[in-house]
Amino acid sequence: MRANNSGEWNTGPEARKRKAHVSRIVRAYDSAIVKLYCQLRFVIIRQHFLDSVGQYLPEQGRILDVGCGFGLFSLYFAGLHPHRSLHGYDLNASRIETARRVAANLGIENTSFELGAAGALSLSESFQAAYALDIVHHLPETKVRGFLEQIHAALEPGGYFLIKDVDYDPAYKRWFALFLDRAMVGLREEITYWPRERLQALLREIGFQVYVHELRDFLPYPHILYVCQKH
Ligand SMILES: C[S@@+](CC[C@H](N)C(=O)[O-])C[C@H]1O[C@@H](n2cnc3c(N)ncnc32)[C@H](O)[C@@H]1O
Repeated sequence: MRANNSGEWNTGPEARKRKAHVSRIVRAYDSAIVKLYCQLRFVIIRQHFLDSVGQYLPEQGRILDVGCGFGLFSLYFAGLHPHRSLHGYDLNASRIETARRVAANLGIENTSFELGAAGALSLSESFQAAYALDIVHHLPETKVRGFLEQIHAALEPGGYFLIKDVDYDPAYKRWFALFLDRAMVGLREEITYWPRERLQALLREIGFQVYVHELRDFLPYPHILYVCQKH
């Protein structure tokens, strides 16, 4: 399992192609606010983060995106390889509608977007891989085990599950992340940043083999990637 903090894949024609793909996705959103939000998401989850996640996703097969929001990362990964299919779920109906509309605008046919709550998704088929980008800290603490168990059950043996989240330490980075999260979701919603050792222990208990590494940022964000593989 490899960390990719060097930015070594960020040059050359492939990198330019991926950059153009990102611009095309952002342009396809019709609302100026959503477009700006998606642009910011692609700044926060930058190219080397996408590559860090993407290296574990198969080029063919079914991939689950839990808490897909407006669907931008499903569209990104689906657009790179037409023989894989991306299946996004989110709790927010209007985000799901937007994701479907933008997929149609872009002519990206290897995606589906459905309404669903993490841990209670109605899944009829298994997946070769799954990911959750900045979702775990938005889930009530008591729901996280059920969420992880459902992903474990839905994955085929050997399949990867990538969690990109916010680490608990150091405190000043946690406060920075909390300030931005609160600006997005307000004061009412529960936000729980899990210490990496705790989430890692839970993932192992559920049956994943886990490798954890930081994703370095120029901003004081405590980004962390959990690379989990089903035995
Ligand atoms: C920070 S956004 C991240 C969206 C997307 N993964 C991205 O990286 O742009 C968090 C998303 O989680 C969704 N969400 C929150 N609680 C959820 C739950 N219990 N089940 C599914 N989605 C949830 C929200 O609606 C929101 O779209």
